[in-house]
Amino acid sequence: MTRGGTKLANSMLALAGHRLLSTISNAAASKKVVSGILVGRTVGSPAWSTTFLVRGPIFGVRNGGTMALGEKEGEEKKVSTTGTGTGGGSDNKDEKTVASYWGVEAPKVTKEDGTEWKWTCFRPWETYQADLSIDLKKHHAPVTFMDKMAYWTVKSLRWPTDLFFQRRYGCRAMMLETVAAVPGMVGGMLLHCKSLRRFEHSGGWIKTLLEEAENERMHLMTFMEVAKPRWYERALVMTVQGVFFNAYFLGYLISPKFAHRMVGYLEEEAIHSYTEFLKELDKGNIENVPAPAIAIDYWRMPPNSTLKDVVMVVRADEAHHRDVNHFASDIHYQGRQLREAPAPLGYH
Ligand SMILES: [Fe+2]
Ligand SMILES: [Fe+2]
Repeated sequence: MTRGGTKLANSMLALAGHRLLSTISNAAASKKVVSGILVGRTVGSPAWSTTFLVRGPIFGVRNGGTMALGEKEGEEKKVSTTGTGTGGGSDNKDEKTVASYWGVEAPKVTKEDGTEWKWTCFRPWETYQADLSIDLKKHHAPVTFMDKMAYWTVKSLRWPTDLFFQRRYGCRAMMLETVAAVPGMVGGMLLHCKSLRRFEHSGGWIKTLLEEAENERMHLMTFMEVAKPRWYERALVMTVQGVFFNAYFLGYLISPKFAHRMVGYLEEEAIHSYTEFLKELDKGNIENVPAPAIAIDYWRMPPNSTLKDVVMVVRADEAHHRDVNHFASDIHYQGRQLREAPAPLGYH
């Protein structure tokens, strides 16, 4: 064979070898993926074999990477019910279905009394008891032009709100919480991006603002239990959210000092609104129904709590938000960045 022919033969062999090896690698990788999915199952047990047989033909290397999200849902369920379950060797079939998600088993969460924790939207370690001793009358007197602008912006928004809801405080609370839960998320998101952009710490403010947003969302989840939105109220929420989210986003970019001050005043209005709600409950114009179960668990309230107790804890939360936001604005007024002052974390 000529020198050129030998070279050609060698490169063909190399190519064939590479292909062959690649196939072997893929097969091995396929097994690896399947094994990876099954982490936590007892390898070698009959259950593992059953699971492998069901999954083996379904998932190749490619599908292995996408199998958890929807497209193989049917097979996923099938696998789940044929296996012996994960960790603990329980025979509960429902548990197996949940645990099949990438082989990650959901931890079993229980209350102090040993009963199962029924909420997936929040966990026992996120619950707390509201600080009802907080001063509800504290008010930041607007002095500067910017403060006055923030104050009157909020005051002017109250007029159409009063007109629309009048004395339907349950509905009013529910609708206002859809707005109140926006600033914390927007502010937290912008601080998050700033922290990434500038390679600097946040001083805990990202978490504080996101906690505030989550707390407001829990207010909404609570009031949803006592008031149901009508179709035009849902439409209003969508419109208001579209406008408010963008306006607040821009406002926070331009002046976080103004944005936090405005939220501080919004919270002052919320306190007023919930005080009126309580008055209506006291007068008997609104029925003081038992507190929703979600509220009892979230605020760790006694089981015999009522709507009035719920409104009181929500109002206390609003007073905390008021303080956090006025504080944040004050930091900016002093010409400092939020990260320079430790954030009031866990302060509801
Ligand atoms: Fe709220
Ligand atoms: Fe609030």
